[in-house]
Amino acid sequence: MLESASVARRPRASLALVLCVAVFAADPSNAAAPAPVEGKRAVLASAHPLATEAGREILAAGGNAVDAAVAVSFALSVVEPWSSGLGGGAFAVVHMGGETRTFDMREMAPAAATRDMFADPAKPGAPIPGASTSTAKAAGIPGLVRGMAGLHASYGRLPFEAVVAPALRLAHDGFPVSRRLRDAIAQVGPQMNADAQRVFMPRGVVPAVGERLVQADLAATLERIAKTRGEDFYLGETASELVRSVTAAGGIWTAKDLAGYFWKEREPVRGAFRGFDVVSMGPPSSGGLLLVQMLGVVERMDSGRKATEGWNGADRLHRLAETMKRAFAMRAIGLADPDYVPVDHERFIGKAAMDGLAKAVGAARRATPAAAISKLKVTGGERTHTTHFEIVTAEGDGVAVTQTVNLWFGNAQVAGRTGVVLNNEMDDFATLPGVPNAFGLVGDEGNAVAAGKRPLSSMTPTLVLKDGKVVGAFGSPGGSRIISTTFQVLLHVIVDGMDPSEALAAPRIHHQWMPDVLEVERFLLSPETRRELEKRGHHIEERGRMGNAMAIWRRDDGQGGVLEGAADPRGEGSALGL
Ligand code: GLY
Repeated sequence: MLESASVARRPRASLALVLCVAVFAADPSNAAAPAPVEGKRAVLASAHPLATEAGREILAAGGNAVDAAVAVSFALSVVEPWSSGLGGGAFAVVHMGGETRTFDMREMAPAAATRDMFADPAKPGAPIPGASTSTAKAAGIPGLVRGMAGLHASYGRLPFEAVVAPALRLAHDGFPVSRRLRDAIAQVGPQMNADAQRVFMPRGVVPAVGERLVQADLAATLERIAKTRGEDFYLGETASELVRSVTAAGGIWTAKDLAGYFWKEREPVRGAFRGFDVVSMGPPSSGGLLLVQMLGVVERMDSGRKATEGWNGADRLHRLAETMKRAFAMRAIGLADPDYVPVDHERFIGKAAMDGLAKAVGAARRATPAAAISKLKVTGGERTHTTHFEIVTAEGDGVAVTQTVNLWFGNAQVAGRTGVVLNNEMDDFATLPGVPNAFGLVGDEGNAVAAGKRPLSSMTPTLVLKDGKVVGAFGSPGGSRIISTTFQVLLHVIVDGMDPSEALAAPRIHHQWMPDVLEVERFLLSPETRRELEKRGHHIEERGRMGNAMAIWRRDDGQGGVLEGAADPRGEGSALGL
């Protein structure tokens, strides 16, 4: 039976209570954070307890890490419809039976997409407000369903129908609306199209927390997907309804676009950090290259020794901020879909590049102004979205997946009778090169819109290996904060010796070069540390919660190791151990 460590000490209770306790109850032996869950056979963590439970069910039924991952992915599409879904995309980093592979299930621009499709013809150089986020044209051709079917075909042990079954049940029978879902519907509901309002506000109002949400159309779609190994979504009844509804709403999808979607295997981005092998997602995600680069810079700066300064001291935070801003400035140039633009990995993670960056960061006694790092001029806002989950087994297999429809509820449209929430991933292109997207991220011509192209992402699903076995998994949602969050959680575990739960609870910083602001979560900085950072020239702004990360780590217990995992206390997720 699967149980969390903290639950195992308690009498049996309802599943919802059990999962809540696993996430939120403070272990009396550890005042800083709840104890992580433990697993002898496997640990998994996701942003929703019912999705984690779907993965548990599949593992308990004899499924492997990939079976469980596909089950969690589809379940999240049902219970966390604001963050990801069948109408979106994903990246998966997979290590199974000694083989590491990365799966690109990112959306593709439809064939009729053009470089200037979001430009305002009346105002040269300006985008049409909202066109790349809130219209039918904002949706790229979804990759999640074919991608997950491909991942399952590569490694799955259980039948495809079996791994879709938990999601189908959740859509068909319904599930209690969580606080996050209620809040997301409250925020986006007024902008939703009629089909989305019919699904998410069935009584015409925002559902209450605890109210059962049934998604009958989505259940029917999932049933067709289950029976056809996903192909109905691209070639069948679902495909026809998707194209009909997107076209009716002014979009440019065609049946050929859907039929022609393909997931793609990408070369993993690999790095070494303190004796561990780090494997993450390469372009069209920027996440892996930036993560491995930043780890390389940090390692060079402390010459591989254990950091002597505190994890939240001014020296450490200054160094991380300087490292992050240089990485994000590089992200804005030359990163894009590698099928369209050659991406020079050496420029990011080659030895010379990381030596040079470490030297520059080391020499920066004061905060380096953004303009001194790159001449690009941008301003931008911030939004959150996306979801991350991961599974690690005792045999050393692991799957880390980050999936998304981009902003909350994507473009806020459900496609007709499919029950599918459409993404607004087209906004991750440089819709006008030099103009920031919803996350304030800017791109160059390389990431301009083009037919068939995949927009640049920040998603950073990451596995950490030792001696060819997975010993850790990391990742987060959060737009541009995905990369900085994943980076810091990983540092807390490997450098600071925190367990996954402590590492996730630790407050975070974020600097994305532009805007030139050091964002800090509340309660991170002591007054002295804040004064010291400001003295060094950092423009500090306090922020609410950043990210909703997951972490799994194999703790060395002297007896072959024990897997520990946790879900971010900022969210409503859960971890379970088997
Ligand atoms: N849609 C956000 C990302 O992929 O980074």
